[in-house]
Amino acid sequence: MKFFVDSADVEAIADLNDLGMVDGVTTNPSIILKSGRDIKEVTREICEMVSGPVSAETVALDADGMIGEGRELARIADNIAIKVPLTWAGLKACKTLSDEGRMVNVTLCFSANQALLAAKAGATFISPFIGRLDDLNLDGMDLIAEIRKIYDNYDFGTQILAASIRSANHMKEAALIGADVATAPPNVIKSMANHVLTDKGLDAFMLDWAKTGQKIL
Ligand code: G3P
Repeated sequence: MKFFVDSADVEAIADLNDLGMVDGVTTNPSIILKSGRDIKEVTREICEMVSGPVSAETVALDADGMIGEGRELARIADNIAIKVPLTWAGLKACKTLSDEGRMVNVTLCFSANQALLAAKAGATFISPFIGRLDDLNLDGMDLIAEIRKIYDNYDFGTQILAASIRSANHMKEAALIGADVATAPPNVIKSMANHVLTDKGLDAFMLDWAKTGQKIL
């Protein structure tokens, strides 16, 4: 499973990138707001650092507007994936932009039928929002499983990009089900390394090591 970082925090992305953990980056209008940065400036900086796809989201609500904005965002760098919402207008924009050979990420997906339409429209990525379904007491992972099954049934090339990931457990479940990509905030990716028994075991080793009186260096 590829790891995308769901953030426009350049320092946090760089930290993970140094460890080879970053296969791509996703942003959206809320993430740009949080960064306090100009969308084109911060996206360019991220694209220079990360070689994989960097999603930048359009904000027009009509297809022509999305297409225009998408082409403008794609001028930032070759690795831009244009993000459009899963509306009928977004599907039209997806078809046009993907026919032009551009990467398109169709976002705000909450049903398997929406994902099926996005694949038919030539999406490079479909972004089902796990956490927001969980917020409604639904199981977001059921949606990933349904999309996986449908895409595999018909050999669709659209990649399932599990989004709205809120926990390390979400990352594990997405990987078990077979999401192609999971995008998560930096703190969630880092939290995957945590285990109470690791901390406990390390404490015990340190205590015993001190008792040996030895040094390695
Ligand atoms: O990848 C989509 C993500 O940014 C939305 O996450 O936590 O706002 O539902 P969240």
